[in-house]
This record gives sequence, structure tokens and C-alpha cells, in this order.
Amino acid sequence: MNGRAIFASIVQGMKTPQFIQLHHEDGSQIRTELLKGLQATKAYTSPKYLYDALGSKLFEAITELLEYYPTRTEAAIFLEHAESMVSHIPHGSVLVDLGAGNCQKAARLFKQLHPSRYVAVDISVDFLKEAMTRLQYQHPDLDMVGVGMDFAESLALPNEALEGMAPRVFFYPGSSIGNFTPAEALTFLRAAHTGCGLHEGRSDKSGLLIGVDLVKGTAELEAAYDDALGVTAAFNRNMLLYINRLIGSNFNISDWSHVALYNEEISRIEMHLEAKRDVALRWTGGERSFVKGERIHTENSYKWTTQSFSELLMQAGFAQPVVWTDADGKFAVMWATA
Ligand code: AVI
Repeated sequence: MNGRAIFASIVQGMKTPQFIQLHHEDGSQIRTELLKGLQATKAYTSPKYLYDALGSKLFEAITELLEYYPTRTEAAIFLEHAESMVSHIPHGSVLVDLGAGNCQKAARLFKQLHPSRYVAVDISVDFLKEAMTRLQYQHPDLDMVGVGMDFAESLALPNEALEGMAPRVFFYPGSSIGNFTPAEALTFLRAAHTGCGLHEGRSDKSGLLIGVDLVKGTAELEAAYDDALGVTAAFNRNMLLYINRLIGSNFNISDWSHVALYNEEISRIEMHLEAKRDVALRWTGGERSFVKGERIHTENSYKWTTQSFSELLMQAGFAQPVVWTDADGKFAVMWATA
């Protein structure tokens, strides 16, 4: 949109995005959760601590890496199969974008899906404000609501975001579903199915459009999570600096190396941080030691087959999905109606 069009839309009464912040950081809860994991015999942390401001930038850099195929492959699937997707996914829906970030992936669907309302969900509305305000200029008539909530905990969206009887399209791209265990993924999918609102008499055209990373060879997977430039290693090790700020600990990143391995038996990439030498970890009010070679498990990224994920969707109450993949079968985009 050029400057004149933007000005005209302002004059004509452009809509403005509404923002609702539901999630509030609880410092003592964060501390309790982190210390529980760090003191466990097999130490672990939640992958959410990968995403401080620098971690989010490092993740964006990861998506540009040659070895990290998911982002690029998913985008190519959306381009190649746009026409087919449009024929299955309802127009005029409420488009609920889970983990919206810069809103770019959903915005690319606007032209084809013509949503009646765009609901962008992320942990904080602060992440959404700039992108949604910009997007509103390009779509001056579109109702937009930004919701700050931890949708991994609950998908109970506020009424203001979902009012009306239009079908709902939950959009969860990027294969972040892989960062849930299969049990957590099922709980999440059940919540999305409930969110589709069939029990409220809403159209059964509602559904979920989701990106899923597929099982493939160990070498390709391990390279994607341990790139030659060391960006993923920096992403993983940066978590320790974030934890230092959160609990006043003394992690020294030079004591820890990045490990990414594919656990073929349970189809998941595991990221760990491995102590290069004996480490005496201290935090305000406590301590623990790690011996050389001991690990902290920081992330899982489960890989699915189109069949195993279709079954999971159906177990959650969805119909058999429509599946689009790239020619090499690396990644899948699935549409499942409620
Ligand atoms: C956000 N999520 C889908 C990424 C993944 O592939 O599991 C996070 C990531 N971790 C290391 N590289 C990318």
C-alpha cells in the first residue's frame, strides 16, 4: 500500500487492533520450575527459556540456515498448494494464529482466505503490537485482536476474540507442535478441537491448519539441529545466560557444549548442554555440581509421519486431515476439520 492509500484509509476510518494481555510472568513460579529441573538427577529445562530477546533473534537466524529445512520447506508447500488449500479451508473465518510473532505467515493467507477476523496469539501482546499495527494499514477493514497468553497451558481464548458464528481456523505453522511430547500434543489438539466450538452449534467447517516436521534420516536431522556455523549451538547455550538473569546463577557458557542427537526409537531430536569439565553451579540460595560429560536436556523436537500425526488428530476429535507435503516428504501441512 502506498502513502496515499494509507492516508486515504486513515481518513475513511481504519479499524484499529484490539489487544488483550492475559498472561502475567510470575517470577517465583519461574524460579521454582527452573530449580526443579536443574536439581533433577537428569537435569532438564523447559525449551521456553530458549527465547529471551537474543534467543528469539537466534531462532530467526536458524530459520535462514541451509541445514534447517523446516521453515523454507513449509513456506514452499504453502506456495505450491495454495489453490488446493483454499478449496478446503473456509473463507470468512476467524483466523486464530497461534504463536503469531511477526504475523507474516498468517498475513500471507489473508489474500486467499479473506478472514472476517484475525486473532493473533503470542505470550505477550508487546511482540504483536508493531506487526499488527502495520498489518492493519494493509487491511484497514479487518477486525484484529492480539491476545497475550500462554497457549501451551490453555487455549481458552477471551470472548472478545471469538464472538460471532463464523467458522474458526486455528493456524499453527512452524512445526512447534514437535516441541510438545506426544501426550502434550494430544492435549493441545483436544483443546484446539474444543476451541473450534462445535458444541456451541458452530459450523463443522472449523478446523486446524498445522505444520508438522516429518521423520527422516538421522544425518539430515542432526545437521539441522547442529549447523556448521554454530547458530543452533549459540541458541542453546544462550539459554544459560537467560537462566543466570532469572535465578542469579553462575553458568559460564564456556563450560558447556551443544549436543543435538536424534533418538530414533521415539522419533525425536534432543538438544542438550554438556558440561566440558566439572562445574559447581550456584544460584541465589542453592547449588549443585555437574561432573564432566553430564548433560542438561533443553529441548525435544518430535518428528511425525503423516500417518502417525493424522491418527493423533483423529484421536483429538478431528476428521481425517487433508495432507500436503513437499516432493521429498520432509515436511507436511495438514488441514483437519473439527
Ligand atoms: C520452534 N521449533 C519448531 C524449533 C524446532 O525445530 O523444534 C526450535 C528449534 N530448536 C533448534 N532449532 C530450532
